[in-house]
Amino acid sequence: MPHFPKHLALDGVREQIKSIPLDNIANIAKQAFNETDIIPLWFGEGDLTTPDFIGEAICTALKEGKNFYSHQNGIPELRQTLADYLTGLNAKPVTANRITVTSGGMPAIMKAVQLTVNEGDNVIVIDPVWPNITGIVQMVGGISRSVRMDLGDEGWTLDVEKVEAACDARTKAIFFASPGNPTGATLPVAVQKQLLELSRKTGIWIISDEVYSRMSYDGTIVPSFLDIAETEDRVLIINSFSKSWSMTGSRLGWIIHPPSLEKIFAMMVQYTTSGTTTYLQYGGISAIRNGESYVKSMTEYCHTGMKITCDALDEIPRVILRKRPSAGMYAFFEIDGMEDSKKACLHILESSQVGLAPGYFFGKGSEKFLRLCFCRSPQLLHTAMERLKTVLT
Ligand SMILES: Cc1ncc(COP(=O)(O)O)c(C=O)c1O
Repeated sequence: MPHFPKHLALDGVREQIKSIPLDNIANIAKQAFNETDIIPLWFGEGDLTTPDFIGEAICTALKEGKNFYSHQNGIPELRQTLADYLTGLNAKPVTANRITVTSGGMPAIMKAVQLTVNEGDNVIVIDPVWPNITGIVQMVGGISRSVRMDLGDEGWTLDVEKVEAACDARTKAIFFASPGNPTGATLPVAVQKQLLELSRKTGIWIISDEVYSRMSYDGTIVPSFLDIAETEDRVLIINSFSKSWSMTGSRLGWIIHPPSLEKIFAMMVQYTTSGTTTYLQYGGISAIRNGESYVKSMTEYCHTGMKITCDALDEIPRVILRKRPSAGMYAFFEIDGMEDSKKACLHILESSQVGLAPGYFFGKGSEKFLRLCFCRSPQLLHTAMERLKTVLT
């Protein structure tokens, strides 16, 4: 037998991959794998199962033999259904040739980054932000540059001058999620217009993550870049069935791109997933065609969760929540006197069996914050908040 060095396999891994921290929310959740009484509010998903009208469409498609490779950009019926849906929701029409179906929002973001970022280029990431974007940028050899939103009595706001100041000749994209994860903040149209102007001036791409766009609680429609961008602007919009249709495990999403990139996206799909699971796409069609009342009830479910959570947080003197989230599925709050959010999460988990996500995951400056996903049943949230009141008081 030849003698192999001890860490041969690990040594062979690309530097960019090795440099990505393995520390993530799942690692904290691992501490609780054998616990039964944990209330898990750490991940970004609800506790509702996929509704039958979607599940049945998926099963029927499979039974009918829709088990073959898919079109690379997605099956035409789903692309057209999405185009009609988006045309109805937004100010400007969307055509099917601008839509590529992906295996979730994550692969859509990965494609957006692979399309735009060379090794050594940078991406402006507006934070606090869900950390997966920074991992994706690192995977392709890019560099994330954080621009932090400001927190005031109005909640989280973005100063586009700061974004502009952070850009240089190697900036290829600006990424943000609106509504945000973890903040729930939405970018007003005026700010979106400033970003679009910056993109037109510099050629920098905008990657607008709109996966929580239907989850707005204040009666307003969350502004989309689809309302203001022209078809050939350098704008890529990410969306997903995961949240509003309770389909996190199905892995189904889409990206909206300029029509001239249709074939390029087909090629990228070919060399990554070679298409999105065919029968799942029929679930996507049913989700859009039959799902409006479901989307509304899901938003109401989260709205109730937000009120229960924030009412209880208001009663804990150490909690600082400047403004209640008006969209999304998270409360992101500061704890007075807490320095280390990871330690705090482990302590909360041990002493109250409530699983929260530590703020430091969401960027520098968020070490004193905790994130709680309130897309849970009212009963569970009441119990969780009673426990949190005890441990945080
Ligand atoms: C802001 C944001 N974008 C994208 C995603 C990815 O969603 P998907 O489950 O469709 O990959 C998430 C999931 O938590 C998210 O919070």
